[in-house]
Amino acid sequence: MIKLEKVSKTYQTDKVETLAVKDIDLHVRKGEFVCMMGPSGCGKSTLLNLIGLLDRPGSGTVHVDGIPVKAYKDKQVAQMRNSTFGFIFQSFHLINDLRVIDNVELPLLYRSMNGSERRALARAALEKVGLGARMEHYPNQLSGGQQQRVAIARAIVGRPQVLLADEPTGNLDSKMGAEIMEILKKLNEEGTTIVMVTHDEQEARQVGRIVRVFDGQLVA
Ligand SMILES: Nc1ncnc2c1ncn2[C@@H]1O[C@H](COP(=O)(O)OP(=O)(O)OP(=O)(O)O)[C@@H](O)[C@H]1O
Ligand SMILES: [Mg+2]
Repeated sequence: MIKLEKVSKTYQTDKVETLAVKDIDLHVRKGEFVCMMGPSGCGKSTLLNLIGLLDRPGSGTVHVDGIPVKAYKDKQVAQMRNSTFGFIFQSFHLINDLRVIDNVELPLLYRSMNGSERRALARAALEKVGLGARMEHYPNQLSGGQQQRVAIARAIVGRPQVLLADEPTGNLDSKMGAEIMEILKKLNEEGTTIVMVTHDEQEARQVGRIVRVFDGQLVA
């Protein structure tokens, strides 16, 4: 499904150059639930961005379904990203001026779909995460756990093959966190490939393969 081959990423700011990801080889198979773990700053979010084609590697190759992405132009990459991946970001990234239902519809705006089709899919996604009764609310009228569920609904509304989740339970209490994990497990059982960043060892062990990152590299 996703294959990283000797992928590196360097961030350049005025003063420092950070080699955030070094020569990583990683293969995520279709239907897997991979948990990425490692200390703060080790490169987990960077890696997730590279896997999800939000960022291009400085060197190395990302393959999606056997296709080397670097052969593609930015516009084609964007299309591939939109049709393959759903993202749950470390902070929710919801737009406060839009109602819940409109937030969830956003990823569908780039698809050729009419308004009522979009609305129906957004409704279905919100019902799936138990927020059918909150569609007309604005994000800041919701609890943290509910906002996180809106973010999940938005990530799954386009039925992505791969869901990338950056600490989806990080800001939640354990009960809310467990609810989110149940939703993710169910999606995985239904066939969605998931790569999730977590700091919770127990949570990671429950679901599948653990990939450990340290200082921009994978450790066994
Ligand atoms: N946009 C950026 N510009 C410059 N440096 C960056 C940028 N984003 C990340 N870095 C640096 O790259 C390294 C990896 O960052 P990354 O966000 O991938 O870590 P992380 O493992 O997700 O950490 P956390 O668990 O705290 O979220 C860090 O040293 C960070 O300071
Ligand atoms: Mg991070």
